[in-house]
Amino acid sequence: MPAQQPVPVPDFLYGTAWKEDRTPALTELALRMGFRGIDTANQRRHYFEAGVGHGLASAYRAGVVTRADLFLQTKFTYQPGQDHRLPYDAQADLSTQVAQSVASSLEHLGTDHVDSYVLHGPASGSGWSDADAEVWSAMVKERDAGRTRLLGVSNVSLRHLEQMAATGAETPAFVQNRCFARAGWDRDVRSFCRDRKIVYQGFSLLTANPEVLRHPLVAGLAAHGKATPAQVVFRFAQAVGMLPLTGTTDAGHMKQDLASRDLALSADEVRAIESLAG
Ligand SMILES: NC(=O)c1ccc[n+]([C@@H]2O[C@H](COP(=O)([O-])OP(=O)(O)OC[C@H]3O[C@@H](n4cnc5c(N)ncnc54)[C@H](OP(=O)(O)O)[C@@H]3O)[C@@H](O)[C@H]2O)c1
Repeated sequence: MPAQQPVPVPDFLYGTAWKEDRTPALTELALRMGFRGIDTANQRRHYFEAGVGHGLASAYRAGVVTRADLFLQTKFTYQPGQDHRLPYDAQADLSTQVAQSVASSLEHLGTDHVDSYVLHGPASGSGWSDADAEVWSAMVKERDAGRTRLLGVSNVSLRHLEQMAATGAETPAFVQNRCFARAGWDRDVRSFCRDRKIVYQGFSLLTANPEVLRHPLVAGLAAHGKATPAQVVFRFAQAVGMLPLTGTTDAGHMKQDLASRDLALSADEVRAIESLAG
């Protein structure tokens, strides 16, 4: 029973958003380059989840990896975040929509369970709502039935997380957020996560932080370590306990992103980057 065993979480996730027809080939390439964690969503507007499944199948056939080698993560997305290509019945209640979305994801990905199932974003920006509570308990049922091993939430504020906890809801295993350096790299949410052993997944680490990539401190550390500023940012993210995502479409960048784990940064250097922009 997958849910009973400890779930190994890789130290980097390959993100599959915005790749459309290139999704199968880029997913397979990412696996060939060494990624073992794949992030997707059953949200056809931004992701081609069935294409991820085709990439996985091709990698399995070629003997690159087996399903057991992988950490697969996908998401439930509310209707306002979707276009007309819904993975569930628009008229159904939210619990039914979650069950239908999970079933569709498993079919797309050619598996009987995912490793992590994430609420793509709460229903409202202002707080944890009754709708979120209903969706979360439906997700817990999916986890209890073995269709996902772990659960997460995405695009959440500290307020969302505090209100979620106040309802007595089960603590998520993951929080996945866009990570802005100017907000202390999402300092408040990361601190909440650290206190509760929630793994913080950071996305847009490069695109949200162009000022960091240009900063003399980061440029200097990159030159010193014979690395790129992007590698310094990914290594920093791991050093402060984040699980970074990259959605690079470039084989060279895939290699560099994974190699960033070998870059040495001292505790002082990590602290300096952490307080660089906010
Ligand atoms: N939960 C959510 O709501 C949400 C929202 C957005 C994203 N995500 C997830 O996060 C994943 C990553 O998205 P992202 O927003 O971080 O953006 P991204 O798609 O990873 O884009 C990163 C940008 O950085 C470049 N890049 C990557 N590695 C590089 C390197 N070593 N050197 C220089 N440039 C490099 C890429 O260009 P090249 O392609 O040329 O390398 C690309 O332009 C998505 O695919 C998705 O899975 C989740």
